Amino acid sequence: MSHRDFLAIPDFSTEELHALFVLAERMRAGAYDRRPLAGKSLAMIFMKASTRTRVSFEVGTWQLGGHALFLSPKDVQLGRGEPIADTARVLSRYVDGIMIRTYRHTEVQELALHASIPVINGLTDLLHPCQILADVLTIRQHLGPELRDKVVAWVGDGNNVANSWINAAARLGFELRLACPAGYEPNADLLASARSRTKVTVVRDPAEAVQGAHVVNTDVWASMGQEDEQEARRAAFAGYVVDQALMQRAQREAIFLHCLPAHRGEEVTAEVIDGPQSRVWDEAENRLHIQKAIMAVLIGGETL
Ligand code: CP
Ligand code: NVA
Repeated sequence: MSHRDFLAIPDFSTEELHALFVLAERMRAGAYDRRPLAGKSLAMIFMKASTRTRVSFEVGTWQLGGHALFLSPKDVQLGRGEPIADTARVLSRYVDGIMIRTYRHTEVQELALHASIPVINGLTDLLHPCQILADVLTIRQHLGPELRDKVVAWVGDGNNVANSWINAAARLGFELRLACPAGYEPNADLLASARSRTKVTVVRDPAEAVQGAHVVNTDVWASMGQEDEQEARRAAFAGYVVDQALMQRAQREAIFLHCLPAHRGEEVTAEVIDGPQSRVWDEAENRLHIQKAIMAVLIGGETL
């Protein structure tokens, strides 16, 4: 049986992404009452911790009529070394879709290769595509649906979240400016391919990236799996704090986004994340709506 995965933002065309946002907005508005996952199950594999991703996928599956299983490495044989390909084949006999959060992106690709059901990427060391679709949904919610006239600034680590912003810029046509310290730049291949489609720049100075931006976005300095680099990273990212002075360089109506969890006093000040320009709670909520739209389409047969 043919199926579609969502491992990276370019898995959807630009037109499909816009339709996905509209579907998610209908869901957010309470204007969607179908149950496309009725009688269906989603396996959720979490090799890393999660609050938002776990709860939003689990609740979202239930709201669409389905059932979700939380599988942690402590409980499943994958955590004891059962091959990912075998896990994919076996889960495909029981459930209708798999969401996975893990370390290496190639593990997710291998899972998708051997599964006969849709696989959704819930974060890898390389990408966090569901997050950035939720972030774009938040931009639409607060700044309107036209994205091509927007400037998005990223301040900090060129990590999985930054890499997915690059993919989103390429597909949706907004300008993206990333300010990263030396040695912490985003993925070079993704950058090169995005640059043929839209304006993506990498600079050192956060002020340069944020000047006139509509969206200011950051993330933790040390991602999951990088705990032992924490000290070195704290030094490298010292000048990469989103504070009120930096926010003042952005547009007056600019919004602040952070995928969360956040460390107040490190990458962002409390004044900014808890201040009037912050939209982080809507951003977290939008994970639920966009992931429901993704599941309705990939697993539930909803058309875009
Ligand atoms: N933003 C995000 O993915 O949060 P969790 O790690 O809590 O899932
Ligand atoms: N870059 C962070 C995002 C967490 C949602 C991490 O990978 O830990």
